Amino acid sequence: MADGRLDCQPARNNCEPILGVLRKTRLPAASPRRILEIASGSGVHCCYLATNLPDVLWQPTDYDPEALGSIDAWRATEGAENLLPAKRLDVLDATWPERSYEAVVCINMVHAAPWAVTEALMAVAARSLVTDGVLFMYGAYRDGGAYVGAGDQAFDDALRLRDPEWGLRDVLEVKEVAANHGLVLEERVTMPKDNLSLIFRQAV
Ligand SMILES: C[S@@+](CC[C@H](N)C(=O)[O-])C[C@H]1O[C@@H](n2cnc3c(N)ncnc32)[C@H](O)[C@@H]1O
Repeated sequence: MADGRLDCQPARNNCEPILGVLRKTRLPAASPRRILEIASGSGVHCCYLATNLPDVLWQPTDYDPEALGSIDAWRATEGAENLLPAKRLDVLDATWPERSYEAVVCINMVHAAPWAVTEALMAVAARSLVTDGVLFMYGAYRDGGAYVGAGDQAFDDALRLRDPEWGLRDVLEVKEVAANHGLVLEERVTMPKDNLSLIFRQAV
């Protein structure tokens, strides 16, 4: 759009199911509860989720300047007061934040980036979360080598064609790298179109 907003219909479609899971997820007590979103992309999710979770303070981030512009343009048109201006955060060279968030949210990033980005996400989340804090991940995954949804192989092939380092990640491998950083897989929720929500909790 002329004001820099990127439209993203898939993000619009999964806003409500993601909100449903976030509403049921127990977060450590704080007022407000602080959420760090990594790879906010267009900004469609953060506008919707911050509006519908008024007791949280939502910090959107991305490493892509176009995404940062879009997030702030969405924020200017329909952002709630609890949605902060976008900040640049590249998980591969992040030196912040430390122990200051009750939750980290990351939607659809790990399959659209090299594996090193998944490893870096875990390091950033582990460092950012307070004790008992939650890392919420959403996306399409493989499970023990097998595809979860009917269209997932085609999606995986398309991702790898675009960039050989991209592709659907395996829940077991994601779980293992998370555990290496003290993040324990607490729950997995099957979402529409066979996507998964993965909820990890900071053990220390
Ligand atoms: C498929 S998009 C998902 C965007 C949004 N979360 C959504 O679901 O619509 C992947 C996002 O990951 C971001 N990303 C990729 N590598 C990153 C990195 N190293 N650090 C932070 N964000 C990254 C991209 O800029 C992009 O916004």
